[in-house]
Amino acid sequence: MADLTVDLGFRTLKNPVITASGTFGYGEEFLPFFDLDILGAIIMKGIFREPRPGNPPPRLVETPAGVLNSIGLAGPGSEKLQEIIRRLHTRTNTPIIVNVCGEDDREFAEVAAVFSAMDEVAMLELNISCPNIKKGGACPAQDADHTARLVRQVKKVVGKPLIVKLSPNTADIVEVAQAAQDAGADALSLVNTFLGLAVDLEKRKPVFANVYAGLSGPAVKPLALRLVREVCRRSYVPVIGMGGISSGRDVLDYILVGAAAVQIGTVNFYEPGAAVRIIGEIETEMDKLQIKNLSEIRGKLQT
Ligand SMILES: Cc1cc2nc3c(=O)[nH]c(=O)nc-3n(C[C@H](O)[C@H](O)[C@H](O)COP(=O)(O)O)c2cc1C
Repeated sequence: MADLTVDLGFRTLKNPVITASGTFGYGEEFLPFFDLDILGAIIMKGIFREPRPGNPPPRLVETPAGVLNSIGLAGPGSEKLQEIIRRLHTRTNTPIIVNVCGEDDREFAEVAAVFSAMDEVAMLELNISCPNIKKGGACPAQDADHTARLVRQVKKVVGKPLIVKLSPNTADIVEVAQAAQDAGADALSLVNTFLGLAVDLEKRKPVFANVYAGLSGPAVKPLALRLVREVCRRSYVPVIGMGGISSGRDVLDYILVGAAAVQIGTVNFYEPGAAVRIIGEIETEMDKLQIKNLSEIRGKLQT
C-alpha cells in the first residue's frame, strides 16, 4: 500500500488532502457526508473579528469549468467561530486550520492571536490574498513589502505554525513568496482565486456588485500549477498547492512540481464527497505508478 503521509516539518499529515477555505464551510456541514478523520486537515472559512454579512447577491456564477465568486467573506465573527471549532473538535481528530482575515494589519494580528491560543487549532492560514474586499480587489499579497511587514507582525503574536496564502493577482508571486518566508512564514499556500469579470449584456452592467470576482475550479489548474512550480523552485518552506484539483492525478501533478500538500476547493461544492474519492484515487494511482511515498516524486519534474 502506498504511503500517503506528508511531513511539513512542523507537523505530519496523514495524507496531502486539505479542504480549502471557503469551500468546506466550518467542517460541520460535511459531517453527514463522510468521516472527517479521513482528511489531511480542514481549513475553516475565512474569519474576521466581527460578524460580516458579505456582498449582496449574486455571489456565485458558474463559468465553463469553473466558478466566479464574490462572497465578500461573510462570516459569524471570531467569537462564534471559537464555539464552532470547540464543537467540531469533539467530532474529529483531523487538524483544524483557521483562515485568518483582517481589514487592516492590526486586525489580522488580533484575530490570529485569538485562534493561536486555542488548543483545538493546529495551525493558522493568513489570508492576505482575498480579492473580494472593496478597493478593486487590492490585498496585502499584491505587495512584497506589505506582506513582509504583516507576516512579521503576526508571527510576533502567534505560537502556532503560520501558513501564508498567496494571491495569483500580482505581478511577481515569487517575490511575494520570498518576502513571506523571509518574514517567518512556516509554509506558503497558493493560489487564491484569479480576478475575473462577468458582464450582463442586456443591462450593460457587471454581474457582480463589486464588478470583479474570483475564479476557481478546473479552469484555473494549469495557471495555478505553473505558479506553484515557480514558487516551489525558490522556497525553503513547504508549499501547499491548490487550484482546480478534482482528481487524485491532479494532486500528484502538484506534488510533482514541488508541493508538499494540496487543498481542494470548488470540487467540494459540486461533489461533497470528493475528498474521499480523491484520497482513494491517490492511493490507486501511486500503486499503479509504483510510487511508494510522495517524497519519491515531490519536485521531481524533469525539464
Ligand atoms: C465560494 C468560495 C469562497 C472562498 N472563500 C475563501 C476564504 O474565505 N478564504 C480563503 O483564503 N480562500 C477562499 N476561497 C479560495 C479557495 O480556498 C481556493 O484558494 C480557490 O478556490 C482555488 O482552489 P479551487 O480551484 O480548488 O477551488 C474561496 C473560494 C470559493 C470558490
